[in-house]
Amino acid sequence: MIITIDGPAGAGKSTVARALARRMGFRFLDTGAMYRAVALAARRRSMDWADAAALAELTRWLKIEVGESHVYLDGEDVTCEIRSLEITAVIHHVADNPAIREQLVRLQRGIGETGDFVTEGRDQGTVVFPHAECKFFLTASPQERAARRQKDLARRGEFVPIDEVLSQQNDRDRRDIERKVGGLIAADDAIEFVTDGLSSEQVVDRLELLAREKLVASR
Ligand code: DC
Repeated sequence: MIITIDGPAGAGKSTVARALARRMGFRFLDTGAMYRAVALAARRRSMDWADAAALAELTRWLKIEVGESHVYLDGEDVTCEIRSLEITAVIHHVADNPAIREQLVRLQRGIGETGDFVTEGRDQGTVVFPHAECKFFLTASPQERAARRQKDLARRGEFVPIDEVLSQQNDRDRRDIERKVGGLIAADDAIEFVTDGLSSEQVVDRLELLAREKLVASR
């Protein structure tokens, strides 16, 4: 069984997806981490962001492993490094590249065939797993998402004013929505869920209930 969780940045997808996977006895796949790992590899090589073909070619040779809580790039643990502001600022060069998306989508589908998964991203219910048994679309208001992101960054030692976080988030939202391939949109059969004012535990409680109903219905 595949459960997909899509939604904009800061909607709480990762925390919720990881917890839901644990409760269901499923594995967890963070697909954003894959795009981030490619961006990190390109940045380390000081690649030209305008050279879409070279970026796609680089992706072909990378070994990206995304585990439950760690991300490895060619065997090196890059879990923290891929979440930095620097990588977030350049990620669109990777996420907007259709040839890179094609490779990562293939990789994600291959992983999905190896067991029961909760997968998290922007295009999981629409492009990667259109036949997933259970699809969620998580959102929250821009203010709430920015506040969560600011806390996350502070935990990592990056202190950013809320206005700046909000303006970067607006940029990312626009790019996510306008992306021609794999753009952010709820699948027709996704259950939409607004997480404002709810703790992640409350969200997971609700999603678990819905997912278990779907599980029974699909077996
Ligand atoms: O969820 P995240 O912030 O770690 O994702 C990083 C970037 O990757 C984000 O800007 C959107 C992009 N992304 C994507 O295009 N498709 C996905 N399935 C996951 C993430």
